[in-house]
Amino acid sequence: MKSRILVIGSSNIDFVCRMPKVPAAGETLISDDSYAFVPGGKGANTAVAASRLGGDVVFCARVGNDSYGEQLSEKYRAEGIDTRFIVNDKASRTGLAVIMVEDGGHNRITVYPGANMNLCEKDIEAAFTTYPDALIMQFEISKDAVIAAAHRAIMNGTKVFLDCGAVTEDFPLEELGKLEVLSPNETETFTLTGITPNSSANCLRACVELMNRIECKYVVLKLGERGCFVYDGTHCHHIAPIDVGEPVDTTAAGDAFTAALTVRYMENGGDIIDACEFANAVGGYVVTKAGAMPSLPTTKELKDFLNSGEE
Ligand code: RIB
Repeated sequence: MKSRILVIGSSNIDFVCRMPKVPAAGETLISDDSYAFVPGGKGANTAVAASRLGGDVVFCARVGNDSYGEQLSEKYRAEGIDTRFIVNDKASRTGLAVIMVEDGGHNRITVYPGANMNLCEKDIEAAFTTYPDALIMQFEISKDAVIAAAHRAIMNGTKVFLDCGAVTEDFPLEELGKLEVLSPNETETFTLTGITPNSSANCLRACVELMNRIECKYVVLKLGERGCFVYDGTHCHHIAPIDVGEPVDTTAAGDAFTAALTVRYMENGGDIIDACEFANAVGGYVVTKAGAMPSLPTTKELKDFLNSGEE
């Protein structure tokens, strides 16, 4: 039987603009590239990625009282996700992200959280009636919601995979309880530890620092084009990325990485190295495509991509 994965997190509409380079303060740039509105949000991207990779996914989120809210919920339903725990928040608008992508694929994101910040303990309690085996979260919902969900999961014996997307320096990680996996990217690692993970020694220092603050089985640092780095409290491993050349757009690569890691880890009986290798491959696929949700692969698309030697 498949493991049930509960994602508690954000649902956004992304306004994406591509440009040769992001403008400096006071500068106006004219871009001849097009812009687009696409579904996104770290929670939603993760839920869709996990579902496309074969996970049995329940998504708990809040959308706003506008046309985007309905469209997004419909989209998740069409992806085969259990959407019964998506609340339509009558008092708020759907979350909106403004994403600037420059040549080379790197992005700058600002999020207007809207309804995401109203996700509350009652919503979380309702979602746990599905008896999930794993919980994935990020930090685009309120601090209280993240803490309440982590505590509820731990009480139930649900494994917690915490992606540090949008984490702030003052988040009280110590209050979360025992996690299965804590996974920051390079920026988030610096935010949480003050250490830039630019060498094996610094990756290890950052992991040790994180494990001193929070109980978790594994810390997995997402290092972008350098792959990832895993630490279990005793041993560390650097896992090399797949080669995909120049990225088109890195948006949602981290979300997809965490989704893939969780799906594979829950399938393979907790083999973290195998799960990280799989997650690296999925992250590699995602950066070759534009947009957040449009870039997330199904199992078949990933297989074809890896077999095509495109990587
Ligand atoms: O991680 C990418 C996501 O971050 C985007 O889809 C955007 O909505 C922001 O939440």
